[in-house]
Amino acid sequence: MTTLIASGRDYGALVEEDRVHSSIFTDEQIFQDEMERIFHRTWLFALHESEIPEPGDFKRIQLGRFPIIATRDEKGEIQLLINRCRHRGAQVCEAQRGNAKRFQCWYHGWTYDSGGDLVGVTGPEGYDRNFKAEQHALGKVPRVDSYRGFVFASLAEDGMSLDQYLGSTRELIDIMVDSSPVGQIEVKPGVVNKTMYRGNWKQIGMDGYHPHYVHVSVFKIFGERENTTGSAVGALHLEDPFSDASQSRTRGFPNGHACLDFRAQRRPQAAAAIEDLQRKEEGRLYVEDMIAAYGRERAEELIAWHGDPHLGLFPNLQLIHDHVRVVVPISPGETEVLMYPVFLKGVGPSINEKRLRAHEAFYGPAAAGSPDDAEIFERTQRGLLADREPWVLLSRGMAREQVDADGSVTGCISDEITQRAQMQEWKRLMTAP
Ligand code: FES
Ligand SMILES: [Fe+2]
Repeated sequence: MTTLIASGRDYGALVEEDRVHSSIFTDEQIFQDEMERIFHRTWLFALHESEIPEPGDFKRIQLGRFPIIATRDEKGEIQLLINRCRHRGAQVCEAQRGNAKRFQCWYHGWTYDSGGDLVGVTGPEGYDRNFKAEQHALGKVPRVDSYRGFVFASLAEDGMSLDQYLGSTRELIDIMVDSSPVGQIEVKPGVVNKTMYRGNWKQIGMDGYHPHYVHVSVFKIFGERENTTGSAVGALHLEDPFSDASQSRTRGFPNGHACLDFRAQRRPQAAAAIEDLQRKEEGRLYVEDMIAAYGRERAEELIAWHGDPHLGLFPNLQLIHDHVRVVVPISPGETEVLMYPVFLKGVGPSINEKRLRAHEAFYGPAAAGSPDDAEIFERTQRGLLADREPWVLLSRGMAREQVDADGSVTGCISDEITQRAQMQEWKRLMTAP
């Protein structure tokens, strides 16, 4: 297979319907091509607009190989500026986040405003009158659009619209945002749970087959704890959501998106969740406000779902339990994972505190959930390097797939529909002209 890649870059041959070639997880050249063909072409999640609420707020992010400064300019508009000085290319902004009217390059001091315009050149007399500052503004990401506060970016000038790209996954994003009675969430840039694993970026997320095995010890602990309803993570132990006998489903969408769909499994738990919330004053108010905002039936389902769409938007965003997760590929065998706990606007502090504690209990550095996953991804990466039998099987549940009205494909919770959806999109983008 190595010869095939070197000679023809026939990426189509590396992804079949029911299996993929392990080189897509380990090969350096394939990784570089993924940057070009996937990360520099399709829509990527950039940030949530609540991370930079005020004019002058900024946050550094990475889109493929492009370092970006996301700013809120003086007019209150979000700008995604390429963090590369127009003089000799140095990264202009090094601070991770903050508030600034100007960005001054560390190399020779050229200065840009929060909209990216070049507003100061050190020693301007060295340039003749043909030098026009307006021709040297920081580059901008060509396409930026948002849905419910989630800002997406595409480094390609042309392509499908964000609405088209998201398709029916928008109603899953709504689940996270509408778990707030005012329909707004807050993602704080400073409250980030930053981790790294030595494995490929395509390993993480949307696998309903592993929790019974990898997370058996943490589930046992959760099962023995007092009820932590009010948070999606706390809902884990109410009834086994990862059993194929449950109503939980895997779901694959067009454009590589995928989810572990717990909606039907969680819906009957609404009454118990509401009863638990109503034991405390802020919980009682929350239930009341949700019913006032959405009507009883919708409020009940939103409360039962705990704001957890358990959705992966290909290639770099996952909305899981109580957090927004950004996947940043570093190399074929290294991936950075940024987790931002989501806070609900319009609720009492104890509601958000409970969500944060539940997030920490499974995903925090001292928890057992995320570290177990990272360990498995690293073991997988080491195994994949032994490529005498190079195919990775993704065939589970192929015989029991169903197509839903919105065109998404579903199956039992342990079926590899999610991986197949992601891999078919990988193939589409990697083989596109
Ligand atoms: S590289 Fe930025 S001022 Fe020279
Ligand atoms: Fe896991």
